[in-house]
Amino acid sequence: MTAQLIDGKAIAAQVRREVEEGVAAFVAAGWTVPGLAVVLIGSDAASQVYVENKVRQTRAVGMRSERFLLPADTQESQLLELIQQLNADDTIHGILVQFPLPPHIDVSRVISAIHPEKDVDGFNPLNVGRLAAGLEGGLVPCTPLGVMRLIRSVHPDIAGMGALVVGASNVVGRPLARLLLQADCTVSIAHIKTTDLVRRCREADILVVATGVPGLIRGDYLKPGATVIDVGINRVRLPNGGLKLTGDVVFEEAASIAGAITPVPGGVGPMTIAYLLANTLQAARSAAGLR
Ligand code: GUN
Repeated sequence: MTAQLIDGKAIAAQVRREVEEGVAAFVAAGWTVPGLAVVLIGSDAASQVYVENKVRQTRAVGMRSERFLLPADTQESQLLELIQQLNADDTIHGILVQFPLPPHIDVSRVISAIHPEKDVDGFNPLNVGRLAAGLEGGLVPCTPLGVMRLIRSVHPDIAGMGALVVGASNVVGRPLARLLLQADCTVSIAHIKTTDLVRRCREADILVVATGVPGLIRGDYLKPGATVIDVGINRVRLPNGGLKLTGDVVFEEAASIAGAITPVPGGVGPMTIAYLLANTLQAARSAAGLR
């Protein structure tokens, strides 16, 4: 391996320390302790783990966390009613409804119901629009914020660099492309219909992959020295029956061509919750009229 390893665990810990200091200063100035509400519907095992981690890490930086565990047959109207209560609750500054939702619930109605100032996921159409228009002050999705921090740990100034985002989801690819554009990169988005993916990857100074396809990106796709950010977290079955976490990039191949690369696990994963905490503090500061 010749590439620099981008240590997401260490950088996420630094972000959490920054949030902890920000929370302490906010509370010392006389404001209410920032509060995050996390809503989980049903008993999906992975979602339960994520929610527990979110609650634990929120409390660890000195914020309040309230957890709402609802049964899988919860009606959409009941969820919307809970969101309205949380919207009106002055002790709650951030609201996160864990995805995926059961199929009988309309995701877009839920996203739109969360007050934009409490939308710590950054999925509400008002926040999506703010980011698309390059306006300051909106809430921005957590994983893209984490990816930008990882990229900046290698290249503090990325203006003029060529960035390719592989994957066009609303959670990662699209908002990330907007952040890269705001940082003055020349940005492309590749997706399932993209032709000649290899050639496009080879042109990228910064390659971010968020497809959920294990091992999609091979070492020979890369421009030598590129910065490679692997957002994929795939559970792959081993021949012995065990499970292994792997990314969307073939790490061993890519690490000998890239200039810097994130591992899986320990790369992008820890950054998402760190920026959820940062967004919750930002929401509390905005509610207090602070920038
Ligand atoms: N499930 C997986 N990732 C996410 C996320 O970023 N936000 C929410 N709300 N649910 C998720």
